Amino acid sequence: MNGDDLGKLLRDVDAYIGELFAPPDAALQTALEDSQRAGLPEIHVSPSQGRLLQLLAEIAGARRVLEIGTLGGYSTIHFARALPDDGALISLELDERHADVARTNIERAELSDKVELRVGDARELLAALAESGVEPFDLVFIDADKEGYPEYLEWSMKLSQPGTLILGDNAIRGGGVLDPKDDSARATRQFNRMLAEDERLSSIILPILRERIDGLAIARVRA
Ligand code: SAH
Ligand code: DHB
Ligand code: MG
Repeated sequence: MNGDDLGKLLRDVDAYIGELFAPPDAALQTALEDSQRAGLPEIHVSPSQGRLLQLLAEIAGARRVLEIGTLGGYSTIHFARALPDDGALISLELDERHADVARTNIERAELSDKVELRVGDARELLAALAESGVEPFDLVFIDADKEGYPEYLEWSMKLSQPGTLILGDNAIRGGGVLDPKDDSARATRQFNRMLAEDERLSSIILPILRERIDGLAIARVRA
């Protein structure tokens, strides 16, 4: 099979899964439309990956979720929908403009009572969270600047407890991690290696099909 055929097959398979398991949803669709209108980069998770994130939060029985990198709140809405009535999600976002769009999208999805957005550099916000002695999280989703992943993983471990799921988006980056000379994937390679080698974690990378191959890193903090 040549590369074009493979690209088409990946798109068609993702569309097939999306049509089956991620049917049209007004709040999610409007969230994407508003994000696009506001000129946000279109780097949110796909509809089918959104379903996967929601399902993982459900499987984990997550009551407290921490998200690093909100953008327009598309992944946020999936996680928040997995939460029980007394659940809470804190999402960290550097860009005030992104956070404004996300706030509107989360309100429209009627999830404002469960979601708190914090605006600033995740490095500082994570340090402040740890400093405040916050209750540990059941699930952490790392999806901000790729350079920050190794540091975000260390903070995530500090904010976790046995059983916590730590998820890392974009763990494969179209295969960029395979090339040791690709500097843009250096921190992602380091993050993946940290997950693989840390004996406190049980981990894997799940390949994610989209227009290209990416990956979702999944790690569980051992008891
Ligand atoms: N999770 C979102 C996509 C996030 S895109 C979704 O799937 O719907 C990455 C986001 O991380 C962008 O909005 C970007 O502004 C934010 N970001 C980048 N660097 C950051 C930092 N240092 N601290 C917090 N957020 C950051
Ligand atoms: C891209 C995708 C992402 O999910 C992300 O968080 C950052 C960048 C991209 O495709 O460029
Ligand atoms: Mg991402």
